[in-house]
Amino acid sequence: MPRTLSKDTKTKQACDTFPEPSPEVKAHSDRLKQLIQAEINAHGGKITFADYMNMALYAPGLGYYSAGLKKFGKQGDFITAPEMSPLFSQCLALQCIHIMQQTDQHTLLEVGAGSGVMAIELILELEKQAQLPEQYLILELSAELRDRQQQAIKARIPHLYERFQWLDCLPEKPFCGIIIANELLDAMPVHILKFEQASVFERYVSLDKDGQFIWQDAAPENPHLQKAAEEIKKLHQSLAHLDDKPGASYITEVNLQAIDWVKSIADILQSGAILLIDYGYTAREYYHPQRSMGTLMCHYQHHRHDDPFYLPGLQDITAHIDFSSIARAANDSGLKVCGFTTQAHFLMAGGLVELTKDLDPDDVLHFTEVARQIKMLTLPEEMGELFKVILLAKGKTLSLPAFQFQDFQHRL
Ligand SMILES: C[S@@+](CC[C@H](N)C(=O)[O-])C[C@H]1O[C@@H](n2cnc3c(N)ncnc32)[C@H](O)[C@@H]1O
Repeated sequence: MPRTLSKDTKTKQACDTFPEPSPEVKAHSDRLKQLIQAEINAHGGKITFADYMNMALYAPGLGYYSAGLKKFGKQGDFITAPEMSPLFSQCLALQCIHIMQQTDQHTLLEVGAGSGVMAIELILELEKQAQLPEQYLILELSAELRDRQQQAIKARIPHLYERFQWLDCLPEKPFCGIIIANELLDAMPVHILKFEQASVFERYVSLDKDGQFIWQDAAPENPHLQKAAEEIKKLHQSLAHLDDKPGASYITEVNLQAIDWVKSIADILQSGAILLIDYGYTAREYYHPQRSMGTLMCHYQHHRHDDPFYLPGLQDITAHIDFSSIARAANDSGLKVCGFTTQAHFLMAGGLVELTKDLDPDDVLHFTEVARQIKMLTLPEEMGELFKVILLAKGKTLSLPAFQFQDFQHRL
């Protein structure tokens, strides 16, 4: 989906109606389940949800992103913007050219490149504009996806393959260049907090007597999580006064890994920029009292539901991004926030109109298909409003056309 295209969000019970996996695929999920059960037992009966999510998505050879299942596109579980339309990557390419001109940095680093389609369309547009980067680096956590990216790039753009290099970890300090990532942060493991009356709990994952995964609430031990809980309470009066309402609870997520990731990037980046696209909100919206069940979502074969314990390894698990925490981590670590806007505003101001101006309306099929893609990328009820773009920079303050329609930095 644009992690949106699925049918309506389903509850845990609705999972019973989802298509059954084949016995072989189910056995794969069972192996991962056993691995997580062993981890829980080895840690005295509970692990944090972040640890559970990390294993469910990234356990070598078994996790959702590490195993060989088809994840992206029509036969997968969701469709991301670059999978939906080349226009998305082409607009990004046009903004990268502006960054190259303003920073004089010509190396690109994409983190979490999925199927590799964004890298292909982006570098093709740069080639068309006579702005090929010296190097296009890719950092991908999943060995299986890295392999898939290499095959796709070799097959579609063999003449540019030599410019690509895959990294095993972030580049050495000092790195100069442009870092881009689409839907990376939402795929990072989150901690879950539960506010209940005057107490705050972390939601851990434990096992019932039959070995099934269950929630176990206990005091958060991680001091960063404790601090995040205090800050969340300060955002909305009603969260600080849940104790006035017996039985009321509020569940939400904190993405400590995304904050650490931004700090690591700030540390290695000497000069250049970071463009991050993801779905999410500012902190005041994210932690709004009405969002009392959090934003955790699972995607299984284009069905969206809320049970992260369903078929581990066979479904995606994701949470929205609190962009205020990203901006704060950036500011605290020496980066400047140079823009924050919705995907629709970013694309409309960033070249979508010019890229489509030569479309032939008499080629009805093609014209209709491109119109459909533009709607999916920009309509508020599709990806246009929920998805945001944030621009961070080290060195010069940058000014990109894509943020000139609307820049919502003041809301962060
Ligand atoms: C939701 S997918 C998005 C893929 C692609 N960017 C797209 O838009 O289609 C998340 C991607 O990030 C990768 N990933 C997650 N955490 C990562 C990390 N810390 N470093 C590098 N890649 C990571 C996953 O393996 C996967 O390729």
